[in-house]
Amino acid sequence: MQAISRRLAQESLRPAASASSLNSLYPLAHYYNGADHPEDGFTLTPKGVGHLVRKGTGGRSSVSGIIATVFGATGFLGRYVVQQLAKMGSQVLVPFRGSEDSPRHLKLMGDLGQIVPMKYNPRDENSIKAAMAKANVVINLIGREYETRNYSFEEVNHHMAEQLAVIAKEHGGIMRFIQVSCLGASPSSQSRMLRAKAAAEEAILRTLPEATVMKPAMLIGTEDRILNTWAHFAKTYSFLPLIGDGSTKIQPVYVVDVAAAIVAALKDNGTSMGKVYELGGPEIFTLHELAELMYETIREWPRYVKVPIPIAKAISTPRELFLKKVPFPLPTPNIFNLDQIHALTTDTVVSENVLTFTDLGIVPHKLKGYPVEYLIQYRKGGPQFGSTISERVSPDAWP
Ligand SMILES: NC(=O)c1ccc[n+]([C@@H]2O[C@H](COP(=O)([O-])OP(=O)(O)OC[C@H]3O[C@@H](n4cnc5c(N)ncnc54)[C@H](OP(=O)(O)O)[C@@H]3O)[C@@H](O)[C@H]2O)c1
Repeated sequence: MQAISRRLAQESLRPAASASSLNSLYPLAHYYNGADHPEDGFTLTPKGVGHLVRKGTGGRSSVSGIIATVFGATGFLGRYVVQQLAKMGSQVLVPFRGSEDSPRHLKLMGDLGQIVPMKYNPRDENSIKAAMAKANVVINLIGREYETRNYSFEEVNHHMAEQLAVIAKEHGGIMRFIQVSCLGASPSSQSRMLRAKAAAEEAILRTLPEATVMKPAMLIGTEDRILNTWAHFAKTYSFLPLIGDGSTKIQPVYVVDVAAAIVAALKDNGTSMGKVYELGGPEIFTLHELAELMYETIREWPRYVKVPIPIAKAISTPRELFLKKVPFPLPTPNIFNLDQIHALTTDTVVSENVLTFTDLGIVPHKLKGYPVEYLIQYRKGGPQFGSTISERVSPDAWP
């Protein structure tokens, strides 16, 4: 075992190993983690200098060898990524801005000392360097689907990501860099956020050709910002505005599957390096069908107000016009978000002949069932209230 760890250390100390030489490390790393437990085997492919120490059977108290800085860990996807990394014994550095409370929920996900919140300033290069200093993996989850007075779409979704890649390159010991983009990100998108995400992908792969880009579809899960927003609106106002005629196709995906894909990419033998993955759920929904799933789960009678796209744009435009002109912050847009309305004018589904969950060995969950079960909190008589069958009988049919 000592001979193996010596060889591993020597290999990992060679500067800038090529992809083919990295692949030759795979059987060694696999053996080191125990061939009897392939599911526990962890094969972080070394790139630059980095000392990998791995111990244990792969559980929370093991040492996976990953020291990951997860930018954007305080968000929705972040909690699932941190949880899955911590579960296999990784150390997770959590740069956060704002209050100490924002990373607090993450600390419990790992053993004592494994989750390390670090205050940083995304506009201060030195604080980013400090957050990355001890890491061998960087995962960028920073993103925002609306602009604020302080941060433009381009700064958050493109420039910050590019800066992280540049700093990771200078660092020299970052073995894996994972950028989370969005399905539908394209330089020709009508949405500014999706254009910024596309620019970030291009800049990152230019700076770090061995980076991995994940492009998840709309994320669904306990803290999501689509079904929760719809359910809340439907409960408050007894109807749901359906932008357009609700026929736009989307391929929503369970957030836990996306986190699993990120971890699977880290665990492979380097095959995901330099690749782009499109991560959509197993089913394609129209917006109307997704809203029906929401109504069915909250056991309310579906009522829609179809809002033609020009009217939806007219409702959402004033926020964008006045955002930087008034001396106070404007409310966060949810249903009427101009940029998202632009994004929802076209279908957003996984393209053909691209890498997907299958290439990472993951079978994504169907949404109906456990992934949307959190919506039962919106049932008016409590979680056990009503039945989907009785709700589906029109009140007009009652005697
Ligand atoms: N949610 C979806 O449906 C969806 C779908 C496809 C792709 N994605 C992408 O997946 C990634 C994670 O999504 P998410 O839903 O977890 O997002 P989220 O909940 O909004 O979290 C975003 C993270 O980015 C950070 N962030 C936002 N603006 C920042 C700024 N100006 N400076 C520094 N940090 C900033 C946030 O930090 P604070 O907590 O400090 O604000 C938070 O940690 C994003 O890149 C997103 O674009 C999301």
